[in-house]
Amino acid sequence: MAEVELRGVSKYYKEVAAVSDVSLRIPDREFVALLGPSGCGKTTTLRMLAGFIRPDTGQILIDGKDVTDLPPERRPTAMVFQSYALWPHMTVGENISFGLKLRKVPAAQIAERARAMLDVVRLPGVEHRFPSQLSGGQQQRVALARALVLGPKILLLDEPLSNLDAKLRVRMRDEIRRIQQELQITTVYVTHDQEEALTMADRIAVMNRGVIQQLGDANDIYDRPATSFVADFIGQSNFFRGTLRRANGVTWAHIGDERVAVEPVDGAPDGAHVTVSTRPEVVEVVRAPEPGAFALDDPRLVNFGAYQRLAGRHPTLGPIEARVPKSFRLDARPVYVKLTRARAFAEPEAEMRD
Ligand SMILES: Nc1ncnc2c1ncn2[C@@H]1O[C@H](COP(=O)(O)OP(=O)(O)OP(=O)(O)O)[C@@H](O)[C@H]1O
Ligand SMILES: [Mg+2]
Repeated sequence: MAEVELRGVSKYYKEVAAVSDVSLRIPDREFVALLGPSGCGKTTTLRMLAGFIRPDTGQILIDGKDVTDLPPERRPTAMVFQSYALWPHMTVGENISFGLKLRKVPAAQIAERARAMLDVVRLPGVEHRFPSQLSGGQQQRVALARALVLGPKILLLDEPLSNLDAKLRVRMRDEIRRIQQELQITTVYVTHDQEEALTMADRIAVMNRGVIQQLGDANDIYDRPATSFVADFIGQSNFFRGTLRRANGVTWAHIGDERVAVEPVDGAPDGAHVTVSTRPEVVEVVRAPEPGAFALDDPRLVNFGAYQRLAGRHPTLGPIEARVPKSFRLDARPVYVKLTRARAFAEPEAEMRD
């Protein structure tokens, strides 16, 4: 069993908070992704879990035991770094065995465990090759094997696939997920790639500027973003700014002299300034005027192969995009859009987007 917990953890560089009061509990065997833009504090968080960086405030617990002051080698963690950093002058077998030798594991056992680990990462028989004689994806597997051979309770991965091409990344993420489930190992996976996070992780912690903005599964963060940052960072959204008004049991966002029915997030009060977001795929397109439908000026189509995107502009709401099927055609008829599912976030002025 290996449960990990961050309790009110912060790390400052001068006055800049790289990580700010982060709390996160990861149950045994869970796969959690830390997802966010460059500089949001992902690597810093992971390095604090591994013990390479000491937090300025807060505690790190593994199985309820405070490990905040323990060095990396005394924690049951193993980390795979972004640049996989295999030792070029050592064979694959030597790379994988190195940590076991340091721990004075008997030689016969070392060879056996290294071989078994190469089977797990599906690279049997490459012990005697040097890293330069392997492809990028194969080297990545060796790096994974090197981390796993020590039998860590917790696997920490920092953007492990970023050096690979798109197709190989997709294959490797399935492999990593398979290995994680096979070994039933608690895993924290850092990425700025939302698709990786959405497809691999049990839960995703979306980070921005050193804080976790939302923690949830793929459906939570995609369908029910907690902040406009999450709505913007995950997938795509249309954004509007308005004022919240409740009337007859319906919550409206008044945008100029128009209004849109919204789902208020976190019980935003009446009169609050809100950011309204809606996904292009829930914007409904109709060709005749009806209540709640907004006429779209200058409609144009962008083809994405599998679908099309209809983009246009409403005089009050501004730019709006809708996802439409490949069969959709623009003709002489006007185009209207209905915002069927919109969320309203009450946010401080400074964080509102234009
Ligand atoms: N050693 C350091 N000294 C000063 N500032 C640092 C140091 N390490 C990180 N930072 C700053 O802390 C913030 C968080 O950095 P971190 O490396 O955790 O980001 P990240 O989310 O991993 O980004 P990326 O996706 O680019 O790897 C950044 O603003 C970074 O510039
Ligand atoms: Mg990083």
